[in-house]
Amino acid sequence: MKRLICILLALMLTGVFPAAGAEVYIEQEKPADWEERDLLRIWALYALDCDSYVLECGGQVMLLDGGNKPKEGSLVSFLEAHGWTHPDMIFNSHPHDDHIEALYYAIKHGKITTDVFISPFPENYGYVFHKKMADVLPKKEIPYRQIFGGEKLTLGKAEMLLYRYDGKTKKPNGGSITVNDMSGILHLRYGDATMLFTADIGGTIQQMLAEENGEAIKADILTAPHHGKNAVNPELLKAADPKLVIITGKVDRTTDCRRQLNNAEISWKRTSYGNILMETDGTDWYVTQEYASEQVKKQEKKEQKKK
Ligand SMILES: [Fe+2]
Repeated sequence: MKRLICILLALMLTGVFPAAGAEVYIEQEKPADWEERDLLRIWALYALDCDSYVLECGGQVMLLDGGNKPKEGSLVSFLEAHGWTHPDMIFNSHPHDDHIEALYYAIKHGKITTDVFISPFPENYGYVFHKKMADVLPKKEIPYRQIFGGEKLTLGKAEMLLYRYDGKTKKPNGGSITVNDMSGILHLRYGDATMLFTADIGGTIQQMLAEENGEAIKADILTAPHHGKNAVNPELLKAADPKLVIITGKVDRTTDCRRQLNNAEISWKRTSYGNILMETDGTDWYVTQEYASEQVKKQEKKEQKKK
């Protein structure tokens, strides 16, 4: 029996059997010694139909997308308040306005800088805001790094593995791959805690990601693909098996996604109600939201009951 347990532990450590995952506590009191633990903190910033995440771990900071142009001010204010206007890295999932614009303007206006700008797209990719970014980075002496599927990023002791379907990928239905589909997908692991950032991948790519990777993409927390504007592909939802889903789309554009999650009894939170903070010590997650008002907090409760 002892030998069997040792073998199982070894398999878990080598990733053959994924760990059970971390527990997710939503709006609950944190343990008294929580702040003394080594934590990974992730903020999903207030946004309407935009993605903007800030990650901090072991003294290192990463921006993952930044939202559209109107978000430049609030993004910069958030970073200034934390003393993080020079994050260690900026990762842009794909060059659509609602992910890259605020980053571009904040860099252009000298409000933020970084050690490296990372994108899964080539530096010379011919897309409007990508070209603008590629032009401004050398002027600010910021190196550009293209990242490829299978590569890992590290932030403190957190690891992020990149999955990506590039322009050479063929969809089984013969459909063409869009810029959204080519988004960089990051699977984060910190101890037993996991999170999957899906950016804007469409339904077919969600299904391919699930079919090809199975339990490897299991995630305690999942970002709803494409802001939650559609229901999550059922195969992806099954493979990721999340305990919490983050939705960044507006209320009237995310009805199907929220209903799907309510029916499946999976918790969700929407960034349009205020910044969401997800903290983990590698064993548990504690998730809290800075609600913009008591009214939206009540509204959220109502929405969570609609099936
Ligand atoms: Fe988007």
